[in-house]
Amino acid sequence: MNLGHGGWGARVRRRGWGRAGDSGHLVLSRISALRGAHLSDEVVTVFFHTTHRCSLQFAAATAPAEPPMTPMAPSSTPATPARPEVGEAFLRSLPKAELHIHIEGSLEPGQMFEMARRNGVDLPYASVDALRAAYAFSDLQSFLDIYYAGAAVLITERDFFEMAMAYFERAAADGVVRAELFFDPQTHTERGIAIGTVIEGLSRACREAGARLGVSADLILCFLRHLSEEDAFATLEQALPFRAHFIGVGLDSSERGHPPEKFARVFARCRELGLHVVAHAGEEGPPAYIESALDVLKVERIDHGVRAIDSPALMQRLATSGMPLTVCPLSNVKLCVFGTLAEHNLVQLLRAGLKVTINSDDPAYFGGYLLQNYVETFAALPALTRGDAIALARHSLEASFAPAADKARWLAQLQAVSAV
Ligand code: HPA
Ligand code: ZN
Repeated sequence: MNLGHGGWGARVRRRGWGRAGDSGHLVLSRISALRGAHLSDEVVTVFFHTTHRCSLQFAAATAPAEPPMTPMAPSSTPATPARPEVGEAFLRSLPKAELHIHIEGSLEPGQMFEMARRNGVDLPYASVDALRAAYAFSDLQSFLDIYYAGAAVLITERDFFEMAMAYFERAAADGVVRAELFFDPQTHTERGIAIGTVIEGLSRACREAGARLGVSADLILCFLRHLSEEDAFATLEQALPFRAHFIGVGLDSSERGHPPEKFARVFARCRELGLHVVAHAGEEGPPAYIESALDVLKVERIDHGVRAIDSPALMQRLATSGMPLTVCPLSNVKLCVFGTLAEHNLVQLLRAGLKVTINSDDPAYFGGYLLQNYVETFAALPALTRGDAIALARHSLEASFAPAADKARWLAQLQAVSAV
């Protein structure tokens, strides 16, 4: 089919997506040129030694493909003993809000292949397994390259609706009572999809989630920070006829080199329009980006924010102001922000009095939905207690943009569950 000026399936195919070797090696080259974001001329070979540890090797662009990797011997470290008081059943039972989920990042490989088939979009992978094998990332940019290209299968209102419904079904099963979904309109409008198609499909799914699954849901429109502020203004303009269908705006995509200040005016306009404002900051970027998200964009939540740990003054400020952080543990490990979950700084952030929440970010790419993030984080960090689990769930409900009456009801439910 004709995908218009931005037919990404076709462009990606012509330029090459990189190859996923059967050994689990991923060779990426020049994919980023598609986005004009960050040209990765080098060939990046990524080895995943265990599910939760990554290490990198950078080779020259002309280097031959690496031979198949020999699997590492299993670690001799004994597994963390199970702690039933913070086990899966308990974590599931807590009413929780998910505040940091990019809905395009919930598109599972199977669904991607199905949409590609029905929309006549070619995927440069032979199978679901081959696609999954490519999900080995060295940093945020290496993920974004594949994530934006994968979104090329989303064409119709039905596609957006079905993608979001699949997420809501999983969220409901995980004990999510409230979900605030990020979506990236520029990823779709750039390839000729009308913004109304995107918003109407997602909005219909939000209504259905409430009616059929009892999951309260709203949309947050994200601007891609590697594009210009002018582009963000144009996107806002296109979205305004659908103003009733989204509650806020966010800022995502490549963080380094794209500080929040770049979007000062468009965020000011969004605040004037009565939209909630949030921004990714301090995922890979420095604490200064968190400070400017607060001071310049005047955000109500910081998405990620884990690099705040590098500034004691900022830690103090975040704690005193009760500023929520939407932390995404499995994402942070997959994108090599931390080497392993056991090295994640979530406990330090919590103990410093920060309003930390747990979220999944891009669950189809990072190995787990919300409950899996809770379960694996609690398994990896033995310092986390039952009280911490309740606090994390409470923070998520308090930090949500849901109506006050709904928040009060969920908080009462949380209290009832916690008292058992
Ligand atoms: N960071 C920035 N942009 C993103 C992410 C992320 O983790 N996921 C999807 N877009
Ligand atoms: Zn994110």
